[in-house]
Amino acid sequence: MTASNNNLLMEKLVSLCKRRGFIFPGSEIYGGLGSSWDYGPLGTELKRNVKNSWWQNVVHQRDDTVGLDSAIIMNPEIWNTSGHAAGFTDPLVECKECHERYRADQLESGTEACLKCNGPLTPPRNFNLMFKTFVGPVEDSAAQAWLRPETAQGIFVNFANTLVSTRRKPPFGIAQIGKAFRNEITPGNFTYRTREFEQMELEFFVPPEDDVAWHEYWVQERINWYLNLGITADSLRIRDHASDELAHYAKATKDIEFLFPWGWGELEGIANRTDFDLKAHSDATGQSLDYFDEVKKERIIPYVIEPSGGVDRATLAFLIDAYTEEKQENTERTVLKLDNKLAPVKVAILPLSRNEKLTPTARNIYETVRNLGIWKVEYDDSQSIGRRYRRQDEIGTPLCVTIDFDTVELDQSVTIRERDTMKQTRVSISDLVPTLQTMLA
Ligand code: GLY
Repeated sequence: MTASNNNLLMEKLVSLCKRRGFIFPGSEIYGGLGSSWDYGPLGTELKRNVKNSWWQNVVHQRDDTVGLDSAIIMNPEIWNTSGHAAGFTDPLVECKECHERYRADQLESGTEACLKCNGPLTPPRNFNLMFKTFVGPVEDSAAQAWLRPETAQGIFVNFANTLVSTRRKPPFGIAQIGKAFRNEITPGNFTYRTREFEQMELEFFVPPEDDVAWHEYWVQERINWYLNLGITADSLRIRDHASDELAHYAKATKDIEFLFPWGWGELEGIANRTDFDLKAHSDATGQSLDYFDEVKKERIIPYVIEPSGGVDRATLAFLIDAYTEEKQENTERTVLKLDNKLAPVKVAILPLSRNEKLTPTARNIYETVRNLGIWKVEYDDSQSIGRRYRRQDEIGTPLCVTIDFDTVELDQSVTIRERDTMKQTRVSISDLVPTLQTMLA
């Protein structure tokens, strides 16, 4: 694809997201707020499905992990100990004339002038990415705190409590999904880089000598998660961090990258954080953050392997990967070929038309399927059936169920239409639920 095709693809996707209620510009009626986005009704369902699939894969389907939900605002000392207060910075340069700001490490080497107005640039200075806030009514330094820039520290400071309350020993992991905040210098690319975002993080504690094997294991596990949810293999790659880009806590990091329309970008980093964090918190607090190794007969601070993914980035990648335009005989259709597990609406119930013959039966079927409580189901009887199919294609609904006059007058059967193939199958109403279950499995 050419650059202009890629830009066009993003324009179409952003437009679809707004038109259909996936993602809206944040604070729009007040003129917006740079790079802030709100998830609409369908985006909320999609994002929830992404998080549920992660939670199911990383927590519910394993014996060696548990979940946590820690606070966003924590004791500010935590960020001194973790190294974020001193070292969580990006190099900022600013145009002395138009005041445009850049990340020095994202400019081509040798760039000395502003890309917008050609004015001179300041020398780089370290800019801390954490958002400052104040706890309580007094805005002085004693009350100053930070919005967390990663959920991980909430896991480290709960390590001992979790170990004791769950009677675990490494190898075991603590998973968390939650908001994090970074005052990015150059947010952009739709929901890819935003100042408020959501993370899915697992801190997996391992015996120190097993760190390399577990690191490899988690890279494979995580890439399989994206593949199993339908991301095209050619759009994924693994990239090792060079030594000069490793975070201050990491011995090694591998990124899972996705081929976005603007190029390869990180979806998830899998870092070997060694014992950096637990050791630092233990030294700072005097609390032992270790476990007793029965074989070695000694207390050991475990190493940590951390798969850390972005919910918003994963959601965007699934949307981009699913976006398809298909030529029909006389027309075109846009289809979101989302995996069934991710699709916001699983089943649409569509009577051929709104009238007293079809409506009672269609409403009955809708309520039966909706009341199973396992799928988001939509009922739609407005406009022509063709337009309704197009809308369901555009929002990625895998199955439409059509109720027609034969349903009520002839055969007590309905038509199931599949999104990707547009294949239609006639099934009796009594077989509908098990058939849907099989088709959506
Ligand atoms: N916890 C790793 C990160 O937030 O990048």
